[in-house]
Amino acid sequence: MTLSSTTSQTPPPGAVDLAVSLGRLRIPNPILVASGTFGYGREMAGFVDLSRLGGVVPKTITPLPRQGNVPWRTVETAAGLLNSIGLDNDGIDSFLVKLLPWLVGCGAPVIVSIAGANQAEFVELARRLDAVAGIAALELNISCPNVSHGVDLGSDPEACRRVVAGVRDATRLPVLAKLTPNVTDIAGVARGARDGGADALTVINTCQGMAVDWRRRRPLLGNVIGGLSGPAIKPIALRCVHQVRQAVETPIVGVGGIMTIDDCMEFLVTGASAVQVGTANFAEPVVSARLLAELPAALAELGATNIAEVVGTLALPPREPCVEPASGRPSHAG
Ligand SMILES: Cc1cc2nc3c(=O)[nH]c(=O)nc-3n(C[C@H](O)[C@H](O)[C@H](O)COP(=O)(O)O)c2cc1C
Repeated sequence: MTLSSTTSQTPPPGAVDLAVSLGRLRIPNPILVASGTFGYGREMAGFVDLSRLGGVVPKTITPLPRQGNVPWRTVETAAGLLNSIGLDNDGIDSFLVKLLPWLVGCGAPVIVSIAGANQAEFVELARRLDAVAGIAALELNISCPNVSHGVDLGSDPEACRRVVAGVRDATRLPVLAKLTPNVTDIAGVARGARDGGADALTVINTCQGMAVDWRRRRPLLGNVIGGLSGPAIKPIALRCVHQVRQAVETPIVGVGGIMTIDDCMEFLVTGASAVQVGTANFAEPVVSARLLAELPAALAELGATNIAEVVGTLALPPREPCVEPASGRPSHAG
């Protein structure tokens, strides 16, 4: 039997265990859909059998309705999408009445994404959602680059610790903290989230970026600066997952530029226990279902029968200090 004939076959059903634990949250498989890229689930139900997904993270909700930013709010870039939606949503009251009842019946674990302007607003949102049956977990969006002060709580380790700890005290639901790549030390923020009691860390939100029409001498986005997503950011997201993995033992949900099963596997091997698919949903609405179907064969290529067997198995070179010829002193610079 040739290698290719053994590796290209999908293992028989049941041969591979896809279930994953993210702290106190147990999900049936590691393929989730990312906040803001899948509506509130219902819009996508005609394309994807939601009940098969590892989780659905609907668009972030805030305490009050928000109109979002002025147009343009999306621009395509080379290998990416720039958006400055600005957390356009109808607020938690409307969410609870109009959207959540359908969502919690969709069959997938529902991880509700929340954003407040400060710790008190996060805590109040968590307290209200704690009382609702059927929610699997909360994801704290402390990393939105498109609202003023959107990343403040996600940039400072101590502020991050406080908001996560406040939410932990306000709810029995598992808590995921979604981190921004737009910081110099993502490991420090990850430690803050861990110390606050996060069950898992979602890594990453979008990377700040800009698009310009030089002939008209105008920025293309109404908000000037937006968040870059899609394949362009996958190397940044992998780097962030790697750095967070080195810093904390908290489970990681990797997100950023995932389009293919190879992308998924790269995140798992680097240290993510699960992944979220974002911008790819716009290009291929069924992408999450496709990746789920392709996952068992990819795991089998590594000889794995469950997800944990591949998570964080990246073989890293030993960190040997290089010697600067002039001083003879060890250095890791450059
Ligand atoms: C149009 C758009 C809207 C988004 N809205 C949200 C949001 O409301 N809350 C959030 O946490 N992330 C939001 N994101 C970020 C995604 O969830 C994801 O973290 C990011 O796009 C990187 O993944 P990707 O490259 O697979 O898209 C949004 C992304 C896009 C493209």
